[in-house]
Parts: sequence; C-alpha cells; structure tokens
Amino acid sequence: MSLNPKIDRIRRPRVSRAVKLRPATPVDLELLQFWDCQPHVIAAKGDENWQWQEELNRHPAWREQLIAEVGGRPIGFVEIIDPSREDCHYWGGCIAENHRAIDIWIGERDAIGKGYGTQMMRQAIERCFADPSVQAILVDPLESNVAAHRFYERLGFEYVVNRSFDDDRCIVYRLRRPGSPVGNA
Ligand SMILES: CC(C)(COP(=O)(O)OP(=O)(O)OC[C@H]1O[C@@H](n2cnc3c(N)ncnc32)[C@H](O)[C@@H]1OP(=O)(O)O)[C@@H](O)C(=O)NCCC(=O)NCCS
Repeated sequence: MSLNPKIDRIRRPRVSRAVKLRPATPVDLELLQFWDCQPHVIAAKGDENWQWQEELNRHPAWREQLIAEVGGRPIGFVEIIDPSREDCHYWGGCIAENHRAIDIWIGERDAIGKGYGTQMMRQAIERCFADPSVQAILVDPLESNVAAHRFYERLGFEYVVNRSFDDDRCIVYRLRRPGSPVGNA
C-alpha cells in the first residue's frame, strides 16, 4: 500500500459502483423532500413544488419516477415522461409523439462527480429507447447549469434551442435514437 496519497489518486482507476434504478414509492417521500431542500438541487431545478405526496401515489402510463441506489443507499432521482401525454403540457401542445423527456438529480451531495449520474442517464436512455417508437430524448437544463450542459453533451445530447419554461431560462438538448432521422421538437 502506497503512503503517498497524491500518487494513489493518480494511479487509482475511476471505477464507480453499480447504480440500480427502482421505482419511487410513497416510502421515499421524506427523502425526496430532503433532496428538494439541498442547495445544489435548488440551484439546478429551482424550488418548484413537485407535489411528492400526491405524485408518489399516482402512476400515469406516461411517466416513470425512479430512485437511483448505490449499494442499497438512495442517492438520486430520475423521471422519464412522454411529453406529448404529460398532463401539465410542460413541453407545450405541439411536441411530437415519439419523444421522451428526462429529469435527473443526485440528491446526496457526496455522490456527485463519481460517475453515478452517467450510469443513471445511460440506464434511463436505455429504458426510453427500449420502446421502438421513441425517436428522441429531451432534457432542459437551466442556462446557468453549465456542468449539466457538459454532462449531457458527453452523453451525446445535441443543443436544440434556448427556451423559457415559465420563468426559467433553459437550454433544450436532444439525443436522437442512433441511426434515426427525427423532426424538430
Ligand atoms: C448533473 C448530475 C446528474 C451529473 O451526475 P454526476 O454523477 O455528478 O456526473 P458524473 O460523475 O457521471 O460526471 C460528472 C463529472 O464527474 C467526473 N467523473 C466521472 N466518473 C467519475 C468517477 N468514477 N469518479 C470521479 N469523477 C468522475 C466526470 O469527469 C465529470 O467531471 P466534469 O463535469 O468536471 O467534467 C449531478 O451532478 C447532479 O445531480 N447535479 C445537481 C442537479 C442537476 O444539475 N441536475 C441536472 C438538471 S438538468
């Protein structure tokens, strides 16, 4: 074992532990509310009320709400929606039918920057494209969330447009199904 931590850091491969996605349930209520209050989560998604109490008890066909766990410890949340069927019409009425939209955050501050977000997104992307009708996936990070832009670009998402959702200035990114042409969102 080396006694030089600097050399250790250089030599050690960056291996993340495996992330498992499971459905969110009402038991996750307090955890999701706790994550909503974390400054890094507020900076990324604002302080919008996600109505967890109601939503964790609702299971519309157009949505999946998932908790990411590492070694049995919940660290983050992923939501996948069909934006053409979602009942608030967040993405607008003209959105194409063959899309999915993803929201993601790691709630536990100490789990950021360890490769877990990449694993969560890869698994979410796989879930979306498992439906052969899905042609593209959308995400909408805040314009200010530069780290998230890098994160999505590394995963292959392409810039589409700067757009306001309510009062939030966002950037829409799209990941097309590999090998498939798709119209504008
Ligand atoms: C955006 C977010 C989901 C990304 O997840 P993440 O786990 O932090 O991302 P990853 O670790 O997979 O990759 C990000 C960074 O960690 C580095 N990294 C990747 N694997 C790593 C590993 N095994 N060990 C250490 N660092 C690693 C990457 O190089 C990258 O660094 P960079 O951004 O400085 O270039 C997460 O940071 C987050 O939840 N942020 C707050 C909420 C948010 O912004 N959500 C998105 C809203 S649209």
